[in-house]
Amino acid sequence: MAKFQVVDHPLIQHKLTIIRDKNASSKVFKEVLNEIATLLAYEVTRSLPLEDVEIETPITKSVQKRIAGKKQAIVPILRAGLGMVDGFMSLIPAARVGHIGMYRDPETLEAVEYFAKFPVDIDERHVYVVDPMLATGASAIAALSQLENKYNVKQENMTFVGLVAAPEGVNALRDAFPDVDIYVAALDDHLNDHGYIVPGLGDAGDRIFGTK
Ligand code: URA
Repeated sequence: MAKFQVVDHPLIQHKLTIIRDKNASSKVFKEVLNEIATLLAYEVTRSLPLEDVEIETPITKSVQKRIAGKKQAIVPILRAGLGMVDGFMSLIPAARVGHIGMYRDPETLEAVEYFAKFPVDIDERHVYVVDPMLATGASAIAALSQLENKYNVKQENMTFVGLVAAPEGVNALRDAFPDVDIYVAALDDHLNDHGYIVPGLGDAGDRIFGTK
């Protein structure tokens, strides 16, 4: 079974409280969401492999470390996932960005795909699928299924990164993708009858883009 980690660093908890507040402006929400995404990216990349490289400092030749292994890609689930891309890119600027668009049918709560565009070598990269809210898990499962089945990305080369998760979503995602690591900033109580996470932070897409 892959890793499930709640990254509960004090800075993350503090910043999450700021954006949970319904009075946070869209500007603040976007900025702080990206700051949390950066902190998550720091933790998620902790086990990246390193290799030795010989360099010359102003003083002497020296063998030092650099990131080795697979190239990386960030795949935001549209549209709320877009709010995490800049935060990730600030730490891994060489990553490519793919996009996948899913919307939730308000009646069935099922995920429906409407857009997908990935780097051509996505199957050779480590892919961070990002979406702030892991609610029912339907969007994440649909996005990961698309990447695995249509674009040949192996489960062990994918990591799901979210901000706030409901236990229902975590369980569903782990059942469907046992080899995908999951990192979130908080594990909340439950989903309400409308599929919103409680206490949550409301509709992340609306709050990022000011559409409500
Ligand atoms: N999507 C959101 O944006 N918020 C929730 O609480 C659940 C799904």
